[in-house]
This record gives sequence, structure tokens and C-alpha cells, in this order.
Amino acid sequence: MISFEGYDAVIKKVYQSGNEHVFKFWDDLTIDEKKHLLQELSLINFDEINELYALTKKHIIPMEFEPAPFTRLPQTLEEHKEFEYAKQVGIDTIKKGKVAAFVVAGGQGSRLGFDGPKGIFPIGPVSNKTLFQIHAEKIKAYEKKFGIDIPWCIMTSESNHQATVDYFEKHNFFTLNKDKVFIFKQNMIPSLDEQGKLILETPYSIFRNPDGHGGSLTALYTSGTLNKLLTMGIEVLSYFQVDNPLVRIIDPVFIGFHVTHNAEVSSKALQKAYPEEKIGVFVKFSNGRIGVVEYSDLPQEKQYEKDEQGNLRYGAGSIAIHLFNTHFIEKIAQGNISLPFHVAKKSIPQYTNNGKHTITGYKFEKFVFDALPLTEHNFILETKREEEFAPVKNKSGVDSVDTAQELMIHLYKKWLLQKNIPVPKVVEKIEISPLYAVEPDDLPDSIAIPLQKEVYLA
Ligand code: UTP
Repeated sequence: MISFEGYDAVIKKVYQSGNEHVFKFWDDLTIDEKKHLLQELSLINFDEINELYALTKKHIIPMEFEPAPFTRLPQTLEEHKEFEYAKQVGIDTIKKGKVAAFVVAGGQGSRLGFDGPKGIFPIGPVSNKTLFQIHAEKIKAYEKKFGIDIPWCIMTSESNHQATVDYFEKHNFFTLNKDKVFIFKQNMIPSLDEQGKLILETPYSIFRNPDGHGGSLTALYTSGTLNKLLTMGIEVLSYFQVDNPLVRIIDPVFIGFHVTHNAEVSSKALQKAYPEEKIGVFVKFSNGRIGVVEYSDLPQEKQYEKDEQGNLRYGAGSIAIHLFNTHFIEKIAQGNISLPFHVAKKSIPQYTNNGKHTITGYKFEKFVFDALPLTEHNFILETKREEEFAPVKNKSGVDSVDTAQELMIHLYKKWLLQKNIPVPKVVEKIEISPLYAVEPDDLPDSIAIPLQKEVYLA
């Protein structure tokens, strides 16, 4: 057994757990590298590792479920009135300074294969503005509209934290009040090989992955951000993903319904485009709780099941837009109610005698929608896909940069059409800066769109 002053207990645990292979390169390490490795190992909870590995062997039988009820887009006069009322409540809540924005941006963006935080990926079809800049400008626009500062929480992870902070500093936080932009890191969790052992990423570090977007609730609490929000009187946190440039970050109608339903968590749903679409669906479990079942866990017969009208019975898809009550997050985090880990078999780089090799191993992640079954009160609102959902997941094909940009252009044209502002045929690409209009009502009554292939309204 190796030894190192001050770390004997850690070393013992490593050997006891059968992970002594992590000391394979020990004799070649410098003192600092040895310390680094031991420091990382001291943060690992070996009991948790065993539990995680046990998950890979477990066949989890999901609880019985039926489709979850949701509030559909308004069709009747009565429903229109309800939406109008919710909007007023929402505006009131926002103006009282009770709402903050929260983007999760800790993911590794492996499918996009972009070098750097996904938030600094240029997505504006004409402006080339990054995802972060578009989100920042939307928040700026809402601040102007509602006459109040809107705090913004940004969750990063170890590998992209510094680059994210540097980016915001370089751009002067896009003129937002930097004291109200909270950038904090999520937790990391070791990945395991197929035998349940730790994986060396370098001769002196362990391969770990961010603990999933579900880690955000704990990270808000442990980073001290939640406490700051509570001190500021924030009651509602508007949660979204960094890779959706169409997200309506501050939506008065949604917020209003959340408040009137006294919901701990609210969610937006849209109709699945086709049965195999890779999004989770909202369900009601047999214990009466609401939740989301991942597309991969939805039994095939349920995937294709239709209702009396011929629509998909499990058609209410989750697009990862939620509102969280800050006191609910506090209750969950303080009460140590941990969201469950999910297992994914993935390629992982492992350091060996011959350098780095890719092996198949297990990554463990928490999903934020697992908070839903923990709620007493929740609310699901239907929304229109083309108005709120343009995920940037892949380099090309489905849910890619191209599809997201097309959806952005399509939406901006729709806004102009709604205002009876004709878009000349010659215009191939049009983009509207959030600072010009964050929703169609902000557009002026008449604009002369220039006769150009690419137009940016700013
Ligand atoms: P995805 O599950 O699409 O993952 O994340 P990803 O990292 O962006 O991309 P792939 O799967 O590696 O290609 C959805 C959202 O959740 C955030 C992401 O940053 C994105 O906004 N996320 C994901 C986190 O913040 N932390 C995580 O650990 C995982």
C-alpha cells in the first residue's frame, strides 16, 4: 500500500474499495500531482459509488401511469379570459421583483462538438450572436419592459466555469447588473468502468462528469445562490436550458398560472411532433403524482397509443422549461431529498500506459424533472412549439444549428406577419434583436424591411 502524510485514511478507503489501480502511475508523479490525486480521491464517497454501480445492474420497473392533465392553449372565450387574468397576475409578480431567471449551462455539449461552453456558440442566423448573448439581451429587454432588475443564475460545471465567467466579463455582462448575475458550478460525479471501478483521466486525476441538470437544485443551495435569491425576495425561478434560443425566459402568463395554482413547480408542454420524437412525456403516476417519463423509458405500445380524437395519448412532451418555487428548492435541498441518479452507458476516455483510450463505461446523471413527483401542487401549460422550442443539440440533422436557425427565422417572420408588416421575397434570413422586440407586441406598427438577403432588426 502506498502512503502519504495526512492521507492515510483516504488511501485505505481506496484499497478497501478495490480501486488501487488509480495509483498505477504513483511512482512517476510529482509531489503536487500526488496531492492532487489524493485530494480528488478524498472527495469521493465510496459508499455512493457502490450504490451507483448497483444501479447499473438494477432493472427499474416504473410505476403505472396515465397521461398527465395539462392546461391547453386557449380556445374558448372563457379560456382566453383565464389566460388574460394569468398574464396580469404574472406581470404583477414580475414587477414586484419576485422572479429570477435560471439557465443550466453545465452540460458537456458532446453532440455539438463545440470547443468551449455551449453558451458561447454563435446561433443568431444573421447577427451570429451567441446563445448567452441572446439570453442576456432578452433579460435586458424584460428588465426594461417591467422596470425592474431580473437576477440571472447561470449554472456551469468544472470544465466550462472559468471560460463562462471570462466570457461574461469580457462582454461586460452585456450591460446587465453584474451583481445580479450569479455564475456557479454544479457538482461532479465519478464515472465508472464496466466493473464498477474508477477511471483515470490523467495519471493523477479521476474521470468525472457533471451530475446532470437535476444537480441544479442542490447546486443552487450549496453555492449559496439560493440564499441570495431568498434574501432578495425571489419566489419564482424561471428555469431553461442554454441551448434553446427561442425560450421565452420571462413569460407573464406562465408565471401567473404558477402563482394562481400555488404550484411548487410548473412546466411547459408541447404536442410531440411524431411518436418517436426524443422528448420525455408528462404522466400521472398511480400514486397521483405528476412526472416525466423519458422517451427511452416509454413502452412502445404507449408511444403509439392514440386517444378518441386520434391524437397521441402520451403526446404532451416536456421541453425543459419550468418554474420553481424558491422555497420548494430550499425544502428539497435542506431536507437532503436527493433526486435519483440515472445511468447512461457511454464512451469515456481512460488514461493507460499507452496514453488515452476510449472505453465503455457508466455515467451517472440526475434529471431536473424528477423534482415533479416531489411536489404537492404543480401546473403544466401547453405552448406552441414554433414559438418556444429550437434545441441546438447536433451539428447537423435533427435538432441542429440549421434547424434552430430556420425556426428562429420562421418565428421572426411570423411576428412581422402578425403585425401586418410584409417581408419582401428577396429576404432569405431575418433576425430580430431581443433589444428591438422580445415579443411581437414590442414591434413598431410599421417598418420598412430593407430589400436585402439578410436583415437584422436591431
Ligand atoms: P443535454 O442533456 O442536452 O446535454 O443538456 P448537453 O451537455 O448539452 O449535450 P450532450 O448530451 O453532451 O450532447 C440539456 C441542458 O442541461 C444542461 C446543458 O448545459 C443543457 O442546457 N446540463 C446538462 C447541465 O447544466 N448539466 C449537466 O450535467 C447536464
